[in-house]
Amino acid sequence: MADLSTRYMGISLRNPLIIGSSGLSDSVEKIKNLEKNGAGAIVLRSIFEEEIVKEYEEIFQAMDSFQSNLEYLDYYDYKIKEKNIEQYLTLIRNAKKEVNIPIFASINCLSAQEWTFFARKLQEAGADGIELNIFSHPADTSRSSDEIEKEYFEIIEKVLSEVNIPVALKVGYHFSNLENILQKFSKTGIQGLILFNRYFNPDFDIDHLRVIPSYILSSPSELYLSLRWVEIMSDRIDCSIAASTGIHNGEAVVKQLLAGADAVQIVSTVYKNGVSCLETMLKYLEKWMQKHNYHSIEQFKGKMCQSKSDNPALYERVQFLRYFKEYKH
Ligand SMILES: Cc1cc2nc3c(=O)[nH]c(=O)nc-3n(C[C@H](O)[C@H](O)[C@H](O)COP(=O)(O)O)c2cc1C
Repeated sequence: MADLSTRYMGISLRNPLIIGSSGLSDSVEKIKNLEKNGAGAIVLRSIFEEEIVKEYEEIFQAMDSFQSNLEYLDYYDYKIKEKNIEQYLTLIRNAKKEVNIPIFASINCLSAQEWTFFARKLQEAGADGIELNIFSHPADTSRSSDEIEKEYFEIIEKVLSEVNIPVALKVGYHFSNLENILQKFSKTGIQGLILFNRYFNPDFDIDHLRVIPSYILSSPSELYLSLRWVEIMSDRIDCSIAASTGIHNGEAVVKQLLAGADAVQIVSTVYKNGVSCLETMLKYLEKWMQKHNYHSIEQFKGKMCQSKSDNPALYERVQFLRYFKEYKH
């Protein structure tokens, strides 16, 4: 039998299938069911920094008449944060009692302020690691890319100073020199990079002239952006990689491992096909390994990364004249 175990963020996983951050794991029952069906690890839904800050501002507005009593306000500030985080911490504590697979907490953060003490609380609750989902929308004309990037490093530094469990960074691809910045992130002391987050995109309802969400779930054709960057980066960075977005079947898992990912994160396929897709994907991986005579993931991980390719330029080519010209309809 093939050994499907892998190491991710310095932690042993029984297999490389991680349930990505989402509502798929918002109760202990769901977490137990994901473990039973084969998940290698689980990332909980994110706690949003903005959620907390918004409530905080609202209560301050509502309490205008108490503005002079700062102690009282401090008490509310503390209580509000406690209420939001307590549910999250309880989920981690209870999940850790019930399952053996690693449970990662996730924080959606915009700044290095306010919330960084949460990181320590997540560690105390028993989280095996923390995923930082940082996104600063790169459409603010008043800020330079340097300023935006500096914030990422500030957040990472602050969180790393709070905890000693492994921390990973989940990012998008909106950087002007992606390779350079990913390399720099990997040298900060984080243990993992998740390539890539998938963001909400607005669509239009053209009859009612309203903004509506576009596709919430990914499609299998979205695999390739992540695949390209995993294969380019996998032996150029100093931390683990979890591939994410568009991984819907066993074949996509094999491709990402060949590109050099240590693990993959899946969300949309589980929403679409139910938890039984985990077993189907794991069976595919095992069969493929048997067919190619691999006994462990280590034997083939990264075999198709860019630096091992006979034609490394292929991995960087984006405007493929020959393919465009030969395309027939
Ligand atoms: C319903 C839903 C909820 C999600 N919630 C979160 C979240 O709380 N935090 C986060 O970092 N990503 C969240 N994501 C993004 C996923 O973790 C993942 O990065 C994205 O869906 C791409 O993976 P996929 O192609 O396997 O779906 C969510 C995705 C979906 C579909």
